[in-house]
Amino acid sequence: MSATDLVSCVLWVSWLAPETSLSVVKDIWQTSRQRNATLGLTGAVIFDGERFCELLEGPVLDISAVYRDVEADARHTGLRVLHISTGGAPRRQKQWCSGYCDASALDIFFDEAGLQGDAAASAFFELLPRCDLSP
Ligand SMILES: Cc1cc2nc3c(=O)[nH]c(=O)nc-3n(C[C@H](O)[C@H](O)[C@H](O)COP(=O)(O)O)c2cc1C
Repeated sequence: MSATDLVSCVLWVSWLAPETSLSVVKDIWQTSRQRNATLGLTGAVIFDGERFCELLEGPVLDISAVYRDVEADARHTGLRVLHISTGGAPRRQKQWCSGYCDASALDIFFDEAGLQGDAAASAFFELLPRCDLSP
């Protein structure tokens, strides 16, 4: 395996900001699709109608640059990082996608004893096949 196959990873959750139109979600999908493709970032962002859950994989500097913008983005609130890996692990998701999941599917990440760390990342990948996602 070459070094380029090894990536960093971050997983976070957040809430659509109060009084923010659902129409922003489509704009977020579009920006993410373009910028993540340019940077070679893969993973997925999922929305349940109220809450986001996103996992990004790629070069650590590119993840950091996107994360800084995401952190400052007023369209969501309550951003909480569940998992960071900078050690260089094999890329688990070959493409970027965005889409929707059932209303309760993200509860495992938001419960009081919500999943953290690599267990949260594994649960995220297990959830993806049950989501309605587009590249
Ligand atoms: C929940 C959420 C997830 C986002 N995910 C990404 C993403 O994966 N990649 C991305 O480029 N922008 C993402 N954005 C949008 C960024 O916050 C930012 O608006 C965008 O990167 C453009 O940045 P700029 O306006 O500084 O150029 C996300 C925003 C939100 C609210």
